[in-house]
This record gives sequence, C-alpha cells and structure tokens, in this order.
Amino acid sequence: MNYKKYVPHIFTGLKDRTWPGNTLSKAPIWCSVDLRDGNQALPVPMSVEKKLTFWNTLVDMGYKDIEIGFPSASETEFSFARKLIDESLIPDGVRIQVLTQSREHLIRKTFEAVAGAKQAIIHLYNSTSVQQREVVFKMTKQEIIDIAVTGAKLIVELEKEYPQTEFFYEYSPESFHATEIDYALEICEAVIEVFQPTPQKKMIINLPTTVEVATPNVFADQVEWFCKNLKDRESIVISVHPHNDRGCAIATSELAMLAGADRVEGTLFGNGERTGNADILAIAMNLYSQGIDPGVKINNIDEIADIYKECTLMDINQRHPYVGELVFTAFSGSHQDAINKGLKAYEAQSDEIWEVPYLPIDPQDIGRSYEPIIRINSQSGKGGVAYVLETFKGYKLPKAMHPEFARFVQKKTDETGKELSPDEIYNLFHAVYLSANDRYRLGKYSISSGKSGEVDIKADITLKGKQYTMKAHGNGPISAFFHGIKALGYNDFSIEEYSEHALSLGADAEAIAYVQVSDGKGNKHFGTGVDSNIDSASMKAILSSLSFFDA
Ligand code: KIV
Ligand code: ZN
Repeated sequence: MNYKKYVPHIFTGLKDRTWPGNTLSKAPIWCSVDLRDGNQALPVPMSVEKKLTFWNTLVDMGYKDIEIGFPSASETEFSFARKLIDESLIPDGVRIQVLTQSREHLIRKTFEAVAGAKQAIIHLYNSTSVQQREVVFKMTKQEIIDIAVTGAKLIVELEKEYPQTEFFYEYSPESFHATEIDYALEICEAVIEVFQPTPQKKMIINLPTTVEVATPNVFADQVEWFCKNLKDRESIVISVHPHNDRGCAIATSELAMLAGADRVEGTLFGNGERTGNADILAIAMNLYSQGIDPGVKINNIDEIADIYKECTLMDINQRHPYVGELVFTAFSGSHQDAINKGLKAYEAQSDEIWEVPYLPIDPQDIGRSYEPIIRINSQSGKGGVAYVLETFKGYKLPKAMHPEFARFVQKKTDETGKELSPDEIYNLFHAVYLSANDRYRLGKYSISSGKSGEVDIKADITLKGKQYTMKAHGNGPISAFFHGIKALGYNDFSIEEYSEHALSLGADAEAIAYVQVSDGKGNKHFGTGVDSNIDSASMKAILSSLSFFDA
C-alpha cells in the first residue's frame, strides 16, 4: 500500500469562509444530466425509445433543465434531440440542454440538433486543469482560453441563424476542481465576456468536480472563493456538477449550495461515469426531510426506480438512500419497538410534525408502504413481533404475551436462519396457539343463567385426550367453565390475565380471546381462542393454554 505516491488535494485560498455558518432554505435549480452524463456511462447506452421513456419521467417529476445528450457525438443522440423537437415533445418551460466541445463542426452540428426548439441551453466545455493542459492537450493556459473563447464566439454568431429558438448559455471549465482557481476564474470571465449575460438573461457557469479528489469542504471553499471573486455575479447562475469518486457527491453538492451555488447538475440515483454523478433525487429528499420544498415530485419513488432500471439496465443498491429495498426496514428489536411507539405517537398527535425514531421521513410520502418497515429475524425483539401481528393482522396481544410468543419466533428464526415475513409470523401464531388440538377440545355446551347473574354450565370437553362432560357453577360463563376444569385435576390452576377483542366487523364478526393460566407452581402460559361467540372463544383459549402444561 504505497500511499506515498499520492498527494493531498487542498485549497488554501479562502481564509474568510462564510459557508459553514449558512443553512439551506430552498431547493437549487435542478438540472438532470441523466440522458447525457448518465447515459454515456452505461454499458448499454439508451436507445431513442428508452431515452424518451426516461425523458417523460424527468418531465413528469418537474425537472425544467434537462441535458438531453451530446448530439454531435452520435446519431442516436442527434435523433433523440430531433425527435423531441419535431414531435413537439418538450413542454413549455422545459429547457433542453445539449453539450458540445469547443470545435467548429461539433458546435454547428449541435445547433442543427436543436433547431426549432423553443428554448435551448448550449453547454460548451473544455478541460482546464493542470493535468489536462500539460498531459493531455500539451497546451498553454492562453491556448486553452482561446479554445473556449473561439467556441463561444462561434455560438454567438450561430445563434443569429436560428431566430425561432431562445438560446441560453452554459460554460464548464471541465476539471475545475483541479484547476488553479484564479485561472478558472480568468477563463470563465473570458467566456462571459463573449456571451455578455445580464441579470435579466443570465448565463450558467458550471463548476464540475469532474473527478472527486478532496473532502466536500475543499470544494465549498473553491465555490465560495469563485462566487466572491466573479465580476458580474448577478448575471451568472453558478452551477455545480459533482462526481462521486470518494462517495461524497451528495455532501459536496450540499456544501457547494451553502457556499453559493444556485444550481446542481446530477442524475437520478447517482448514475454516471465511474462512481457516478451526484444523486439529485437524494439531495432533493434531503431538503424535503428538512421541511424544504424539493422542487421536484418524488411521491412514487418505486415507479421512478422501475423506469430507471428498465432504461439504464442498472441496479439500485438495497441500502440506497430513500429508494433501496431495505431503507425503511428495521431489523433490530429496539429499533422496531421505538418505531412502533413513534408511529403511534405520530397518529395520536394533532400537528403533522414527523418525529418517528429511525425513520427520517414518512415512507408513505414517497409511495413506500409501511409493510416492509419491520421484518422479523433472530435479532428482533418482542415489540416488533407484536407490532407485526397488530399492524398486519389486527391481533392485539396482551403485553404479558409478547415475550412468550417472541420466544417461539426466535426459535423459528434461529432454526431457519431467515427472517420471517408478516404472513409467516401470523402462520406461526396460528400453529402455536390456534391450530386444532384433538387432546384439548371444546365440544357442545349449554349455559343457563340464574336470577342473580350466576350461571350453570354443562360442557363436553376433551382434556389431555380424555373426554368429559363437566357441570359447574360460577358468576359468569368463563368462571363457571374454569371451575369445571379445576375439578378435573387442575385444582391449583388459576386465570392470571384475560383479554379479548373483535377481529372483524358485523353481526357474525369473530372475536379473539387471550387467557393466561398459572399452575400455582410459577408456570404460566397464554392460550388463544377464536370464535364468533365470545364465550366459546374464551373457553377455547383456556383449553389452548392448558395444552402447554401438557407439553
Ligand atoms: O464531469 C464533467 O466535468 C462533465 C462536464 C462535461 C460538465 O461532465
Ligand atoms: Zn460529468
């Protein structure tokens, strides 16, 4: 591991930085570069049809600046631009953006690609970093400036030939992150001088971290320095275009916004060259989670993800912020318990403030369901199991029953080594407490009430596999039944806890009863019974609990 072959990337030019004291209060201008930077990095680039599907999604989400491609680079890119324009597929207010190098034939072709569009952003770029100048182009600083300025001048000339289109301009000093900052400013100002933007008709200066080589604070310093030193700041939209080589493109974008960036270029789910571009959807959701209007619509993130996967043939990691399959799932028991309590408190409160532990946003806001929030594995606690039964199946287990059933769940997950779905938990509950047990059965019974409210019961039951017809007396059906049971060899037994609730609505609704029975020697078990008659459900629950003492 020869780390000495690398040098740190630092920027020491800004001493009076103010960005750390700023807070984000609004969304930036978004620019999706999915159809260009994202597309150019795909093992299988999108066809015109797929680009169109992706385009429709971006438009539906509300993106207003959409870089549609590099039309001078390939026939597909060119055809896609023509299709959008010739078939009037660009809604009013949406600006298509097209990338071009600063070479005459490419610039001319780019204009042909966007001819007839109502609005278009011509995005001119050339590389400016020391490495690119010295190693790749072998050119002086002035020669690199000349390339940019010559291209800009041609663009201004060509604009006159396309009067149907309102043109906007963007210039990117590619590899800005590794360009001497005063030189980056010099080249940008030379280009600005050609385009002559005004506060009414601004141009975009786009500052890319073409390769992410430093911590996000370094880029924030560069952006703040640039904004402070730029001559005609009010005529310029400062855009940033972070890549994700160190995995910090989202943070880099956010700190750049604090430092003065007005606009962010990136892609959905961060697709792009190498490790990708900044994930503009995650940045938007980060703003949303701070109570800021994200400026785009993300209320159906799964649909967006499906279209993305279909068009790009790329996967999305299960832990990807906001969209990953597992991001609204809690495995730990204490997390599950806290989520359970948080959700109940949220439902009970009168204001709408979301404060549910472990869930930074309400999954429902982006079309995710609560269903997968809690899945049960061997690490899950009793609270999680009870939550699943209550939320998905309507079973409100008494609190004292939670640890008892959780032990059955734990045993099952330990045996299988797998997590259990809500359905599997429900099936296990039935198998443990409600499955037909021929050794403990309630047969026919009759109850007659006396004047004082006391009752007599006559019941056919099976206990430990033996059939009995019992007769007993009590101050209610349950106590009468239990007296009868006691007389059949369960003298020391008592009922410790009893609860019941309806399972459905209507006249023939079923009820569930939970009864905890003690044997008087310190052993206690719950039993459960379901029936449309609550007395029957309770007697079945008593027999169910007795079956555990037999086990
Ligand atoms: O990453 C980059 O520098 C680019 C430019 C062309 C803007 O994609
Ligand atoms: Zn890029």
